[in-house]
Amino acid sequence: MKVIHTIKGLQAELSVLKAQGKKVGLVPTMGALHAGHASLVKRSVAQNDVTVISVFVNPTQFNDKNDLIKYPRTLDADCELLEANGASFAFAPSVEEMYPEQDDRKFSFAPLDTVMEGAFRPGHFNGVCQIVSKLFDAVQPDRAYFGEKDFQQLAIIREMVKQLHYPLQIVGCPIIREEDGLALSSRNARLSVLEREKALKISQTLFKSRTFAATHSVSETQQFVEDAISAEPGLRLEYFEIVDGNTLQRVNSWEETSYVVGCITVFSGEIRLIDNVKYKEV
Ligand code: PAJ
Repeated sequence: MKVIHTIKGLQAELSVLKAQGKKVGLVPTMGALHAGHASLVKRSVAQNDVTVISVFVNPTQFNDKNDLIKYPRTLDADCELLEANGASFAFAPSVEEMYPEQDDRKFSFAPLDTVMEGAFRPGHFNGVCQIVSKLFDAVQPDRAYFGEKDFQQLAIIREMVKQLHYPLQIVGCPIIREEDGLALSSRNARLSVLEREKALKISQTLFKSRTFAATHSVSETQQFVEDAISAEPGLRLEYFEIVDGNTLQRVNSWEETSYVVGCITVFSGEIRLIDNVKYKEV
């Protein structure tokens, strides 16, 4: 595996491979890689001839400066994980490389980006679209891989690809969890032992709510989750919304649509964790 720091360097390598007809998969990440990221890499390696993983902590998507400063940066360990999973290139650019000038582009995919994360993290998805579009332009992959863990992000990227006519396929990949159910996240490394214990309640509640939902209404299920999280000292619910998996708009009944997902954000101590569960899938 080669580690490359510049767009020119990466494009020089890729143009040779593309000329040979090789298919290119891209896995955008912010590093601090874990088994969740590895699952995307494995999928790309299986479906393409060449896999590029970008490792870049994108400043424009952090609305909380402290979160940006504290975001874990572990490039050496990341490269080991990538190499072990068969990656071809790790692309680890500097901020200056990706943003030689301030990026003033405004992306709007309303109403997908105005609800949930969009409402609580103003500007976040604009930053995500800025960097992901730059990566798409730089790499011009055949396929790009994103996790369902960031359910809203995946929906917005799909919409961006559709609206901007990027000639590539978006592949959504399922959430990878710890054995006890906690969704893997780079932020989990920042949880204290107690916060980690409390955080378990998030996935447990979502799983229980799936059983509950089979015999209760949407609003009862909503209440069930809100009550369970509020009952746990140390956890603070930011939002829980039961939405149409395509439009991300709230649903009032299970019959309303064929794809229903519950999206949640909870603070365990100071650490903001997101997760989701499917109640109904197409
Ligand atoms: P990051 O949080 O590093 O995640 C990179 C990719 O890994 C995302 O598509 C995310 O959904 C996926 N992922 C993370 N945890 C996962 C898990 N437990 N199971 C399955 N997939 C998981 O998401 C970002 O970075 C950034 O916003 C990015 C798209 C790279 C733009 O900067």
